[in-house]
Amino acid sequence: MYKILAKTLFLGKRVIYMPTCHSTNDIAANMLEKPDNQEGIVIVTDNQTSGKGQRGNVWHSEPGLNLTFSIILKPNTLQIKHQFNLNMMASLAVSDMLKELLPTEEVKVKWPNDVYVNEKKISGILIENTLKPPFLEYAVVGIGLNVNQERFGSDKATSMKRISRQDHSLPELFELLIFSLEKRYMQLKSREYPLLKTDYMTHLIGFRHSRRFRSEYEFEGVIEDVSEEGKLLINIKGQRKAFDLKEITFL
Ligand code: BTN
Repeated sequence: MYKILAKTLFLGKRVIYMPTCHSTNDIAANMLEKPDNQEGIVIVTDNQTSGKGQRGNVWHSEPGLNLTFSIILKPNTLQIKHQFNLNMMASLAVSDMLKELLPTEEVKVKWPNDVYVNEKKISGILIENTLKPPFLEYAVVGIGLNVNQERFGSDKATSMKRISRQDHSLPELFELLIFSLEKRYMQLKSREYPLLKTDYMTHLIGFRHSRRFRSEYEFEGVIEDVSEEGKLLINIKGQRKAFDLKEITFL
């Protein structure tokens, strides 16, 4: 059972468990309208019936086998132009925890914020922000982590069980992950943006390596950087080009 977390300062002090819901991100977004909502509320479910992914995709997760939850944050000192720090902090938090638990495996981040183990996707993150220019007002950080699911529709997905060959306790992982998120979020709150960026680039799949992508056409390029607004900066035959999420696919 998911408990209120004792080890954290403000994340997970209120945990709302729903056996079934359509999307924890949508439940969290609805809660933002209530005046008493606090930073750190977590909505967690065992069965998400309309899980949302990036680019309008659906997030599938077998009921009762994985972690699916959303956290409400109030990053109201984070400027809109720095909002990609939320993607970096969340993907690093998931990576930090996985590296602790799976120390012999290769844990990486695929731009913008997917987490991969041994070149297969283990976690997806969907961040939905509300703005109060020039700052953010709220962020809903939704995380799906494949834990005990063994079969997937794609051979590019994996889970902790597929890697470790054992079952993992969802409430224990939930606690570890929220703790890890709080650590990284504190770095964001204290504006340690260069640290988050350096750690993110260290984990980034394809950084400084040649690989193939598809945009309007297929091409080969080298990821050189990620811009302040979160665009992927790729060197294509000596020319640097910037890509948004919807503009590029990794091949
Ligand atoms: C992706 O990789 O496309 C992002 C997937 C994000 C899935 C999580 S599961 C909890 C939260 N609620 C949602 O509807 N989506 C996110």
